[in-house]
Amino acid sequence: MKKFLIAGNWKMNKISSETVEFAEGLKAKGLSNAGDVCVLAPFTDIRDLGKALEGSGIGFGAQNVHFEPSGAYTGEISVPMLEDLGVGYCIVGHSERREYFAETDETVNKKLKVLLAAGITPILCVGESLEVREGGGEQTFVAGQVVADFAGIPAEDAARVVVAYEPIWAIGTGKTATPDQAEEMCAFIRGVISGIYDNPTGDAMLILYGGSMKPSNAAELLAKPDINGGLIGGASLKVDDFAAIAEAAAALS
Ligand code: 13P
Repeated sequence: MKKFLIAGNWKMNKISSETVEFAEGLKAKGLSNAGDVCVLAPFTDIRDLGKALEGSGIGFGAQNVHFEPSGAYTGEISVPMLEDLGVGYCIVGHSERREYFAETDETVNKKLKVLLAAGITPILCVGESLEVREGGGEQTFVAGQVVADFAGIPAEDAARVVVAYEPIWAIGTGKTATPDQAEEMCAFIRGVISGIYDNPTGDAMLILYGGSMKPSNAAELLAKPDINGGLIGGASLKVDDFAAIAEAAAALS
């Protein structure tokens, strides 16, 4: 049976009161797959989110972390700080961080290692720009990211990483990759992982699609064999939409 993870990336949205309202609303939905759902919130919301979701089975986490455990890094948040909040997940290498905040494969790799050491599940984002896709280099580009991001990570740890394929041209644009485009790249990523490690590691890895996923297109994307869920931006901000996507996954599992 295919495993799923439905993850909401709130990006820089919601204050604390909105967080609690969302969590209460989501719990009230009584999701049939609550254990395979998580919400990635701004740092300032995580404590309240965790409290509000307590006992629901719904996971929660952060959108970024620094790779050093402490020190003179003004404005940064460390793994021990996230552990203290009880997070289960942390996004790493989102294209918005790569594009606007100088995230590189090297820093992504360091962040993956410290998160794995702490037992926090990293959600590693990879994906190409429109320019790269139009030039036909999307597989080479994404393979390069995957190889660099997993460098030096042993197979037993790699299996705990969730990979999210997020084509930059589909993020926040309303332009979703077609189910076939998304499947093709997710299957390709699985093959790259199998190549670095072995087939069982590739087969077991959760590979998500992200980019304008919404209730109207989720079922078709999630039905594809190599798509194990979604990393959802805009549609994760509304309880009804996010819950509908989670239920679409539940119906397929
Ligand atoms: P949208 O769902 O808003 O396109 O965002 C996708 C995304 O970047 C999730 O990390």
